[in-house]
Amino acid sequence: MSQDILKKQAAEAALDYVTGGIVGVGTGSTVNHFIDALAGIKGRIEGAVSSSEASTERLKSHGIPVLDLNAVGELSIYVDGADESNAQLQLIKGGGGALTREKIVAAASKIFVCIADESKLVKVLGKFPLPVEVIPMARSYVARELVQLGGTPAWREGFVTDNGNLILDVQGLAITEPAALEQKINNIAGVVTVGIFALRPADVLILGSQEGPKNLK
Ligand code: 5RP
Repeated sequence: MSQDILKKQAAEAALDYVTGGIVGVGTGSTVNHFIDALAGIKGRIEGAVSSSEASTERLKSHGIPVLDLNAVGELSIYVDGADESNAQLQLIKGGGGALTREKIVAAASKIFVCIADESKLVKVLGKFPLPVEVIPMARSYVARELVQLGGTPAWREGFVTDNGNLILDVQGLAITEPAALEQKINNIAGVVTVGIFALRPADVLILGSQEGPKNLK
């Protein structure tokens, strides 16, 4: 089975966790499969809170109402993909550049279900370049601070986030203490969000595999 089929398998398995109400929806190719599957049960949910303009467009194209997070209370569930996960379900996210809104919707949700193909499970986070969203005027300053932390940042040129900011992708960090590094990078002036999701990890990781979906908790 191809990687894309494994993503679809994980995405469809996530429907088991959708019990109604308002669903938080992440961003990316795996989530696109989830949105397509969610359309099949749209009569059972009130609507969705989206983490990006791209997901909003796809949700609307299926006739799924998209609600403002400020207009709703706690979400029952958030479903999103990841670039990497360790066994503790701490993640690297932001390959698609939607990390800030993703972190907000994850924080506002009771259960975070992460969906991915099995290649995303790693022993130590950091092989995937760590995305950091920065305020444009702070780009060089934040890059110098990230070098001090042992990383090699690269500006994702030509890319602007839905929030009007820039992304630095940081190579060379072996992230052995994800929660501590998340706090440290978040504390650099000019950083909007770092793509480490450790302070609020996933609650469930559904991995698409050749043997069928595997649920890690
Ligand atoms: C977007 C993300 C995505 O969840 C992550 O990049 C995984 O993407 P894909 O499902 O396409 O592999 O964090 O900001």
